[in-house]
Amino acid sequence: MGLETIVEPQPYLIENPNLQDGYAPVHNELSTTDLEIIGEIPKDFNGMYVRNGPVVQHPPKGKYHWFDGDGMLHAVHFQKGKVSYRNRWVKTEGLAADNAAGTSLSPGLKERMPANVLPDDALKNTSNTDVKFHNGKLLSMWYRGGAVYQVDPHTLDTLGKLESDPRLKGLQISAHSRVDERTGEYMFFAYGNRHPYMHYGVLDAKGQLKTLMPVELPGPRLPHDMAITPNYSILHDWPLVNNPDALKAGRYSLEFHPEWKSRFAVVPRHGTLHQIKWFEADPRYMLHVANAWEEVNDKGQTELVMLGTPYTMPKKFDGSLDVQRLLFTISTQGTEYEFYQWRFNLETGETREGVVDDVLNTEFPMINAWYQGYKTRYTYHVLMGRMRTLEQPHFAGLAKYDLEKGSAVTYHPGEGYWFSEAPFAPRDKPQSEDDGYLVCFVWNGLEKRSEVWVIDAQKLAEGPVARILLPQRVPNGFHSTWVRQEFLEKH
Ligand SMILES: [Fe+2]
Repeated sequence: MGLETIVEPQPYLIENPNLQDGYAPVHNELSTTDLEIIGEIPKDFNGMYVRNGPVVQHPPKGKYHWFDGDGMLHAVHFQKGKVSYRNRWVKTEGLAADNAAGTSLSPGLKERMPANVLPDDALKNTSNTDVKFHNGKLLSMWYRGGAVYQVDPHTLDTLGKLESDPRLKGLQISAHSRVDERTGEYMFFAYGNRHPYMHYGVLDAKGQLKTLMPVELPGPRLPHDMAITPNYSILHDWPLVNNPDALKAGRYSLEFHPEWKSRFAVVPRHGTLHQIKWFEADPRYMLHVANAWEEVNDKGQTELVMLGTPYTMPKKFDGSLDVQRLLFTISTQGTEYEFYQWRFNLETGETREGVVDDVLNTEFPMINAWYQGYKTRYTYHVLMGRMRTLEQPHFAGLAKYDLEKGSAVTYHPGEGYWFSEAPFAPRDKPQSEDDGYLVCFVWNGLEKRSEVWVIDAQKLAEGPVARILLPQRVPNGFHSTWVRQEFLEKH
């Protein structure tokens, strides 16, 4: 199959840094195997790398925020050393309405919402944030919480909303859910501005809704991710909220409450409302979990370990938290992160917490997905470069942590490259947890082109073993997943 153009270009020029250079939108939906390769694609891994991200189809109404663009999936399929690339918009209801009107209908994050409308109700569910594989389909999700869209993994055609059970309708499901590859189950949470502010649920391997429960929070919150272990799920309640008066006026204005605790709901995977155990920890805010697992401590007590990359907590001279600086960092997409660990003792109800690494600045942590919920030795993160302008984070390279040795290896090829979250792709018949490759898109700003890089996960510092040059830019984006070939073929 050669290069196939599905949609005619609709070029436009907008003066906004989040619509320029590696962030600039594309307008073609392609399917191609006609790809130039530097190096050699290894033949000992098979499957599909898929990444989601924002790509505006219609010129934005008012100010543009990087998070406003319509979701577009970019998929790279590797099979026995051969490779193909495909990209498709997620055909959301909001995009269909825009297309019918020939213009963008919804306000963006930076715009004031219509009177008497909660901001979340006016925003378009762009489905632009994360993508997972479950029950033979890709599931595309949105960071503000909304309906999940199902996508055919072979064609990237949108199949419609995930509403197999009527109870799923209207739930504002978060961008980040968790798949247990060993059981095929899909754990998710929903959140929003209305009581009880959070729900937790589980779909089984066939897509049946097996568990759904309200999780009452003290008010509307901004959780982003969750964690799982084989027996438990961990839900987040951070002391970060939207100012309620601003919300009523149709605006977003972040507030951080250092006098509150971070709270975590630990619930048995298929538990009930009454089995939720709440744990408290120091006030903090985190987007992404790296992994979680169960451990038995030296007293024979079960502890849940959760690792992630929260924002660093900036301090004033007197040692108190610099709340304004933290809020400025979060609201301008600043990148000030540390690698952190919490341990929740199920016997005593106590939390122990501490820094894993506050030297490297990393985010978008990934693991070998087979170990989701199980103790992992390795995590793979995006290495954050210094931001030169506000609202333009620089995904400068990759880092691999060895939690057993307490060491890390980093790789960044120099100025001008912008990486994507890099999922782990196992080798056929892997011999160890890190026996495989990291696969990611890289915007090569020197050559002004997008590439796919394949890196041996055991030799990160050596850089890519293969670079696939793409005929069209893959705009800088968000989250990704690796789908093993055997999972694709099962369906
Ligand atoms: Fe995220």
